[in-house]
Amino acid sequence: MDLKNKSIILTGASSGIGREILNKLKEYDVKIIAVGRNINKIERRDNIIPFSCDISKKEEVDRLFEFAEKKLGNIDIFIANAGFAYCEDLTTPSWEHIEEIFSVNVFSPIYSVEKMRELNKDRKYSAIITCSAVSEVPLPGYSLYCSTKHAINGFGRVYNHETRENEVISLVYPIATKTNFFKNAANRAPIPLPMQDPEKVAIAVIDGIKKDKRFIYPSKFYTISRVLNRILPFVYPIYGGIQRRKFYKWLEGCQPNNMAQ
Ligand SMILES: NC(=O)c1ccc[n+]([C@@H]2O[C@H](COP(=O)([O-])OP(=O)(O)OC[C@H]3O[C@@H](n4cnc5c(N)ncnc54)[C@H](OP(=O)(O)O)[C@@H]3O)[C@@H](O)[C@H]2O)c1
Repeated sequence: MDLKNKSIILTGASSGIGREILNKLKEYDVKIIAVGRNINKIERRDNIIPFSCDISKKEEVDRLFEFAEKKLGNIDIFIANAGFAYCEDLTTPSWEHIEEIFSVNVFSPIYSVEKMRELNKDRKYSAIITCSAVSEVPLPGYSLYCSTKHAINGFGRVYNHETRENEVISLVYPIATKTNFFKNAANRAPIPLPMQDPEKVAIAVIDGIKKDKRFIYPSKFYTISRVLNRILPFVYPIYGGIQRRKFYKWLEGCQPNNMAQ
């Protein structure tokens, strides 16, 4: 999709990958509603409208769309980028804990994609969802997070077969990226390697939007590893084993005796 004159909603604009996407997008002839709960972190300028919203709640997402329609009329591009992870040992059953992460990472993007269809009818539009490499690669310690990315990946891949000519749904697959993501997941959460800069993801996302790409892979390393794992299907299980060791080491460090050291 040509970006000229387009109206965009971007979630997760206050940090990390979303902030980098915002930094690149603002240089185009576009208007952006930049969403986060902490909008004081979002740059203010002519073509950026910060909007505070907790996207885990249906009423809040409805409020976002009402605001966007009033401010900009049509919405051409929705970038569902907001998301978070827990790094944890699942020991205590908690429905609320599961619901919290699924609301942000799965329900909200799916509901927003549905809203975009309802809003645009036959108009051309794009919806971009930040998925993750962990929708395919096992990452011990992050099983709830990974399950949300599996779910949104499943939705996007099937929905792609249901789209009409005027619709493009794109899935983005970043590998570990240098943002606040891991710090927010847990204290000294184990980080999978290799890591990439959020700017690299932002460049790939914008290129993907312009070219109507349905699948956006910002990391060559990941693209190669996917092919390799298809030929040698033990590559990802071996990677999972390495991450498992890191996870257990991290858990050991979390024991009260070790925390004090
Ligand atoms: N970093 C990685 O290694 C990595 C790898 C693969 C995929 N991803 C995905 O990339 C996306 C962006 O993550 P990031 O790395 O940029 O992390 P980040 O720096 O922690 O940013 C997360 C963004 O999501 C927003 N957010 C979280 N919960 C929200 C809520 N309830 N309502 C509204 N906004 C909310 C945050 O805004 P506020 O705090 O202001 O609300 C923030 O802007 C996520 O979907 C993540 O799963 C990240």
